[in-house]
Amino acid sequence: MAKIYMDNGATTKPDSEVVSAMLPYYNEHFGNASSLHSFGQEAADALDRARQQVANLVGAQPEEIIFTSGGTESDNLALKGIAYLKKNAGKHIITSVIEHPAILNTCKNLQDDGFRVTYVPVDDQGLIDPAAVEDAITDDTILVSIMHGNNEIGTIQPIKEISKIAHDRGVLMHTDAVQSVGKIAVNVNDLDVDMLSISAHKIHGPKGVGALYVRKGTRLESLVKGGGHEFGKRAGTENIPGIVGLAKAAELAGQRLDDDASHVTKLRDAAITKILGSISESYLNGHPTQRLPNNVHLRFSYVEGESLLMLLDMKGVAVSTGSACSSKSLEPSHVLTALGIPPEQIHGSLRITFGRENTMDEVDYVVESLVGIVEKLRAMSPIAPKH
Ligand SMILES: Cc1ncc(COP(=O)(O)O)c(C=O)c1O
Repeated sequence: MAKIYMDNGATTKPDSEVVSAMLPYYNEHFGNASSLHSFGQEAADALDRARQQVANLVGAQPEEIIFTSGGTESDNLALKGIAYLKKNAGKHIITSVIEHPAILNTCKNLQDDGFRVTYVPVDDQGLIDPAAVEDAITDDTILVSIMHGNNEIGTIQPIKEISKIAHDRGVLMHTDAVQSVGKIAVNVNDLDVDMLSISAHKIHGPKGVGALYVRKGTRLESLVKGGGHEFGKRAGTENIPGIVGLAKAAELAGQRLDDDASHVTKLRDAAITKILGSISESYLNGHPTQRLPNNVHLRFSYVEGESLLMLLDMKGVAVSTGSACSSKSLEPSHVLTALGIPPEQIHGSLRITFGRENTMDEVDYVVESLVGIVEKLRAMSPIAPKH
């Protein structure tokens, strides 16, 4: 049976070059980067090179890259790191209703600690109106955090415009770019952000490692207390093999960005056209053009996303319902709810996220499988109209 992985928004297969780059840092160069002897020096050199490679991918300086345990920690560090440092200057943060739980739950936590959070809404395609951010800024606002590419529906936000609004009012700007880095060109200066979150496992790197870009001169409170690692912004002996893996993944993502983006865009557009053209009452969720090049998010009337997922899995195809990050919850997706999609339609949603290894033949196989599965499920559904 075919084994087709189309859930690259959840995680990606580590590139073989990434794994090869990491292995020597387990087997031979296992030193602690803080040690003064040659073993330590090898690790420190690897750390320096990695910092440069990750910086290159987003147009940053190496000393602006703080290595973390992944996107979740980067988001926590950005929000809490600024909030705790600036708590005497202001207690208001602005974010959006469609952020990843790594942002939303950190905001909830900050609210418990006495901060105020404004959640700006989105339109029915998942776009934030920059004017809504402008209206929400008060004299008390210390940070705006708006995601770049949405992990569920793939909508890409106008970050540059929002950054300008924040900066004109003297407010710091963070973006969670976990889903956009490596998929589209991401440059911290073009986006004009002060902080930006990155995760290795979304770009064919290892799990449990990521980075936070922090613009030179931006101070934040370290959340992990200990030694002076990562310029005093994140203590703990560095995960050198993981960081080397992230750096290799970043290097490859940079080299392959144009090829990867045009490849997955073709697959995305073909999949959307073919599915919408062959299944009645199927709809695209998210923005039709301002969306991540690898993201297809659809909903089908009269079927359950879970049933679609399980039946596709039986045909060897791995996809996701809504967001993988919330797949263990029965709550309807907060992102699709924010778009104004009724709950019964939300439950009929499916996310397909392509990667560089997917092919057009696989798209055809998935479309054909999906047509049959939807037909079968609707035939069994008591509510689906029978033609
Ligand atoms: C937009 C977004 N932010 C943050 C994260 C969390 O990243 P990590 O899995 O590296 O903790 C994810 C993961 O799905 C994500 O999609």
